Amino acid sequence: MATLPSIRISGLGKPSEAVAVIFAEKENKLSDQAVDMVGGDAAFIERAAKISEFEGKKSSFLDVIAPEDSAVDRVIVVGLGDAAELEESDWRNLGGELVGKLKSLKIEKAELRFDAPDASAETLAAFAQGGFLRGYVFDAYKTTKKEEENNADWALSLTIQCGFEAEAAAAWKEAEAVAGGVLLARELVDLPPNALGPVEFAQKAVDLGALGVETEVLDVEQMEKLGMHALLGVGQGSRRPSRLAIMKWNGGKDGDTPIAFVGKGVVFDTGGISLKPGAGMEDMKGDMGGAAAVIGLMHALAARKAPVNVIGVLGLVENMPDGNAQRPGDIVTSMSGQTIEILNTDAEGRLVLADAIWYTQDRFKPSFIIDLATLTGACLVALGTHRAGLFSNDDELAERIHKAGEFTDEKVWRLPLGKEYDKMIDTPNADMRNTGGSRFAGATTAAQFLQRFTNETTWAHLDVAGTAMGSNKNAISQGWASGFGVRLLDKLVKDHYENS
Ligand code: BES
Ligand code: MN
Ligand code: ZN
Repeated sequence: MATLPSIRISGLGKPSEAVAVIFAEKENKLSDQAVDMVGGDAAFIERAAKISEFEGKKSSFLDVIAPEDSAVDRVIVVGLGDAAELEESDWRNLGGELVGKLKSLKIEKAELRFDAPDASAETLAAFAQGGFLRGYVFDAYKTTKKEEENNADWALSLTIQCGFEAEAAAAWKEAEAVAGGVLLARELVDLPPNALGPVEFAQKAVDLGALGVETEVLDVEQMEKLGMHALLGVGQGSRRPSRLAIMKWNGGKDGDTPIAFVGKGVVFDTGGISLKPGAGMEDMKGDMGGAAAVIGLMHALAARKAPVNVIGVLGLVENMPDGNAQRPGDIVTSMSGQTIEILNTDAEGRLVLADAIWYTQDRFKPSFIIDLATLTGACLVALGTHRAGLFSNDDELAERIHKAGEFTDEKVWRLPLGKEYDKMIDTPNADMRNTGGSRFAGATTAAQFLQRFTNETTWAHLDVAGTAMGSNKNAISQGWASGFGVRLLDKLVKDHYENS
């Protein structure tokens, strides 16, 4: 992986690096601490600001070469705008923007004085996390590295000075643990499908053993014994055998009811016999974005030693057309005993989740299940790339997820479930069919299908087809793989489900 920024927290003191970074509020207001950072006389900054019409607006930057007698050689001023108005996500974005700026200026070492109204350990940690996340570039397959903003060999070391060092260091440690989970999720989504099959993906879950996560991996034979013919039917056209990975993080008390997360891990989705068109098919390497978020979340929770018992289940398959692939018209029996008529082999994610969700509720009796899946193009049509679709049989859980998403800036929007929609997946030939039979309400009919496998467990489904992959570049991400869901679910768990 790319060289990530190294971010260190320190107490207040004289700058030890030649490049100082300070904040300015709107109208270019510098705090006493900012002035202190540059050596006690900030007249040269005021002058430079005037000449370049820098006004301290949010996300604006001023880059000044310091006079000879200054404590530093160069000063970067970061505009905060109305600092008292900044929310945690603004701080995260500002951190990302600063790292982008330092990188474009080819600065390798810098020292920042973190001083602003309402500055706290939490805002500092969010800022640092944004900077860290911005540093991720998928360059594992670049044998020659170009000198551009994306240049991943560029190693930034950023020291952040503040007057609350101990709290800030503790908060950053947690935020860095969570960021590690986000980057794991991004990397898995970015990896090419030839490198990441179901077996390799399951190994990534096993690798979390280093953080204290226990993983079991079920192979095809074991899943056959359990009757998981919905999941196995999807993988039967692939040369690469399916897997179910079951991760456990036991950070809570022994015997405490766990919470559970289930991810769609289709390592590549050709559509199967209902083959997708060729254009853009390469994007379907990201059809394991739900599973990537679940493994990223497990990483985050374990790395910050969250006091909660959590189960993470990944349904790992490849959907290929082949002489042995399943056909439209096939009827399979799921682990739940319910039969499914396959109308379209490209509606495979729900088949994988049907068995993964049933297995999870049956074995662990969790207090809730949240599944994440790049499930439907229809969800993308409805919500675009800015919000994930949320479906739930529980208003309280839905509300909590919504709020966590607003806070972490991984937004969701609730879409309906209902009896009327449920009827759309009935068929005369089996207990249900795997598509709604028309283009109408495609995200809902898929969710409705999943609901039939929850056995009335408290449940929410996040359709991340538009948010986990193909994402736009922004302050904290270079684009395509976003790691969507990791920070949101970490926040949800932290706010509501941890032992104090
Ligand atoms: N993996 C796709 C959904 C998808 C589409 C994810 C675009 C990300 C971007 C899923 O398996 C799929 O093919 N769904 C079909 C369902 C249909 C056949 C009922 C779809 O959305 O077209
Ligand atoms: Mn598909
Ligand atoms: Zn798919």
